[in-house]
Amino acid sequence: MTTPQNRATVTVTGAAGNIAYSLLWQIAGGAVYGPDTIVDLNLLEIPAAVGAAEGVAMELSDSAFPNMGKITVTDDPAVAFDGANSALLVGARPRSKGMERADLLQANGGIFGPQGRAINDHAAEDIRVLVVGNPANTNALIAQRNAPDVPSERFTGMMRLDHNRALSQLAQKLEVRTRDLSKVVVWGNHSATQFPDLTWAEVNGEPVRVAAEWYYEEYIPRVAKRGAEIIEVRGKSSAASAASAAVDHLRDWIHGTDGEWATAAIVSDGSYGIDEGLIAGFPTVAEGGTWKIVPGLELSEEQKARIEASVAELREERDAVADLLG
Ligand code: NAD
Ligand code: LMR
Repeated sequence: MTTPQNRATVTVTGAAGNIAYSLLWQIAGGAVYGPDTIVDLNLLEIPAAVGAAEGVAMELSDSAFPNMGKITVTDDPAVAFDGANSALLVGARPRSKGMERADLLQANGGIFGPQGRAINDHAAEDIRVLVVGNPANTNALIAQRNAPDVPSERFTGMMRLDHNRALSQLAQKLEVRTRDLSKVVVWGNHSATQFPDLTWAEVNGEPVRVAAEWYYEEYIPRVAKRGAEIIEVRGKSSAASAASAAVDHLRDWIHGTDGEWATAAIVSDGSYGIDEGLIAGFPTVAEGGTWKIVPGLELSEEQKARIEASVAELREERDAVADLLG
């Protein structure tokens, strides 16, 4: 066995919650940083759930992961983000049946300003932030705007679950595996307005051809409303699939995608008509430790209209939390 050469501190908020119960085991097991890195975990919870998070820490310890470093449990963001190289902001209320994710903005928005400030003041220079708590794009924007000393590209929102759903639904339709698919993207917001886009999709390097009726009437709404479907059927919001997507996002961000497209919600530079500064889902590749927007794609009028519908919702969410934007 090789001796680990590196050390990373990963902060996970909402550490006693459902998503964390899957996510923490994957991070501690090396799914993000790999076998050469010892991982120290900082677990942030609200005071009422610190006891439960201590129990999670005990179980992590009992799992005897070879590269597990220190585990710190706290309700103080200054301690939780101290020296963090990666931060997964999961802690937030989930929606229940009948709610849209934007309904959570008032309940959850207030969490992300103080956490952004604590990241600004205490995290490591190379900090990477992934916001999972809903509404993820706008919560990521709140955190980013409260961290003026951190480069804005270090704040991202989770749309990898939407991307994975888009791959999986297409793979089932074509009766192939997701590994056979490429160049799938989900534009816009992690909400029902998102646009899962198959314009450039390929199966084993060949263009994907699907019937327009299936694409517009079944595929797009199915992917866009999959979170609600899970809540309806499971009775609770998605957790293990969300954790899996968070691992995909962070692992790819650090190690790169080898030119493969993935969807990440990142700060817009104004590309593709998406307002500069909004955090939106784009076709991206990860290279050299940075998410980069795939350049030079031609958009049809249909694509522009669908992207604009989701961006309009992101603008509304941003305006609704103007007082939290630092
Ligand atoms: P959960 O209720 O099981 O756990 C949330 C945890 O966060 C709780 O333990 C709670 O005490 C903690 N928490 C609340 N406020 C906190 C704060 N200020 N600091 C630290 N911890 C805090 O919920 P869950 O199922 O783990 O989901 C968490 C969030 O992730 C929800 O908002 C959910 O909607 C969202 N989510 C997003 C995606 C996505 O694709 N972006 C997917 C699934 C779920
Ligand atoms: C999901 O997409 O599964 C999560 O964002 C949970 C939700 O509220 O849909």
